[in-house]
Amino acid sequence: MSIIPHDFDARFFRSALGRFATGVTVVTCESEADRQPLGLTISSFNTVSLEPPLVLWSLTRRASTLPHFLKTERYVIHVLAASQLHLARRFARGPQTDRFQGLKLKRAPGGSLMLDDSETAAWFECYNLTQHEAGDHLIFIGQVERCDRSFNQPLVYHAGDFDLTPSTEPLSSS
Ligand SMILES: Cc1cc2nc3c(=O)[nH]c(=O)nc-3n(C[C@H](O)[C@H](O)[C@H](O)COP(=O)(O)O)c2cc1C
Repeated sequence: MSIIPHDFDARFFRSALGRFATGVTVVTCESEADRQPLGLTISSFNTVSLEPPLVLWSLTRRASTLPHFLKTERYVIHVLAASQLHLARRFARGPQTDRFQGLKLKRAPGGSLMLDDSETAAWFECYNLTQHEAGDHLIFIGQVERCDRSFNQPLVYHAGDFDLTPSTEPLSSS
């Protein structure tokens, strides 16, 4: 990819991007070899197409789960509710085994492993349609095969924090 010059540094770019408020998701799949649950926090989720139903999200090339997401046939995108702030934090750090410690899991209708949490604002079981290289990330296009939603308040990510989310929890604690 050719480099077109720009007049800002990475820190400023990040800060400008942070003005775009997003929801927060946790994307899960299983390792092919030993069927271990894998997941991480993703805010780059977005809609692509209604017909056919397509969504996208981008994954850093540095993610430990990258080889698994490249291979998996399906994955589940969970849109988090405000009450699931703890999951957004938990799925952004630490070993995979800790991320799933004590959490209830279940199978989506198509067989994909997903979180069993009625608080979840929405979930999408996706066929892993395509992946596109884009700078230091890969863009995943998922074809949605099944989905459901609740009407719970969504978790909102903005300016590097969850400061627009109504919550009783202290916001900046790790
Ligand atoms: C709110 C939030 C949003 C995130 N969004 C993304 C994202 O869209 N893409 C990405 O690759 N990492 C994103 N991350 C970072 C990953 O969750 C984090 O790097 C994760 O630990 C990577 O998984 P790994 O430790 O298994 O490599 C986000 C983290 C947070 C807290």
